[in-house]
Amino acid sequence: MAERDWYGVDDYISRKLASGDEALDAALAANAAAGLPAIDVSAPQGKLLGLYARMIGARHILEIGTLGGYSTICLARALPADGRLVTLEIDPHHAEVARSNIAHAGLADRVDIRVGPARRTLDAMRVAGEGPFDLVFIDADKPSNPDYFAAALAMARSGTVIICDNVVRDGRVIDAQSTEPAIVGTRALFDILASDARVDATAIQTVGSKGWDGFAIAIVK
Ligand code: SAH
Ligand code: DHB
Ligand code: MG
Repeated sequence: MAERDWYGVDDYISRKLASGDEALDAALAANAAAGLPAIDVSAPQGKLLGLYARMIGARHILEIGTLGGYSTICLARALPADGRLVTLEIDPHHAEVARSNIAHAGLADRVDIRVGPARRTLDAMRVAGEGPFDLVFIDADKPSNPDYFAAALAMARSGTVIICDNVVRDGRVIDAQSTEPAIVGTRALFDILASDARVDATAIQTVGSKGWDGFAIAIVK
C-alpha cells in the first residue's frame, strides 16, 4: 500500500477516536508557539498509552522524556484521583511549557516534573527508595535506553509494564552496522529485552502521522 495511505488512515483514526480534545490541542499549540520540536506521540498513540495504563489500573507512573507534556497528559488522565505520575526532563524550557500544559489540563496535582539529566534523577530516585511504579514510559535520549530500562527495572514490581518509544526509526533498527547512537542504544535495548529473564517483551511497528516507528513493551515477571 502506498505510504501516503498511512497518513490517511491515521487521520481517519484520529478524527474518529482521538480528536476534539481541548487540552491536548492546546498543548500542541503551546508547544509550537514555544518552539518545541513536534516529536510528541501521535493522538492515537497517546490514547494507546492511556488505555494501557487503565488496563493495568496504574496508580504510579514514571515517564522519562516530558517535552511539552503531551504523553504526560495522556498517561496522567488514566490515573485515579490519588494516583501520581513522575516525569523527567532535561530541558528547563520544555519543562516550563509542560508545566503550563499539564496545569491547563487540570492535572497539576497528579504530575511531578523533575528537571535534570534523567540518569542523575533516576539514580537519586533509586537511592531515595522511590517506586515501585506500575508503568514506565521511556521516551528521552535513545542512546540511554539500556540505562533507562535498568532504572525502570530497579523501581519495578512483578507486573510492572515498561514501554519504550521509537524502537523502529524508519526500519533503521535492523542495521547491525549502524553507528547512529540512537540505533545502537535501541539495539542494545532489544538485546536486553531478549536476554533478561526478568521480563517478557515484544515490539510492534507503527505507521501514521509520525512516520514508520514502533513501541517496545515489556512486563516484569
Ligand atoms: N514523551 C513526549 C516526547 C518526549 S521527546 C511526548 O510524547 O509528548 C524527548 C524529550 O526527552 C525531550 O523533551 C528532551 O529534552 C528530553 N531529553 C533528552 N535527553 C534527556 C535526558 N538525558 N534526560 C531527561 N530528558 C531528556
Ligand atoms: C523523534 C520522535 C520521537 O518520538 C522522539 O521521542 C524523539 C525524536 C523524531 O521524530 O525525531
Ligand atoms: Mg518518542
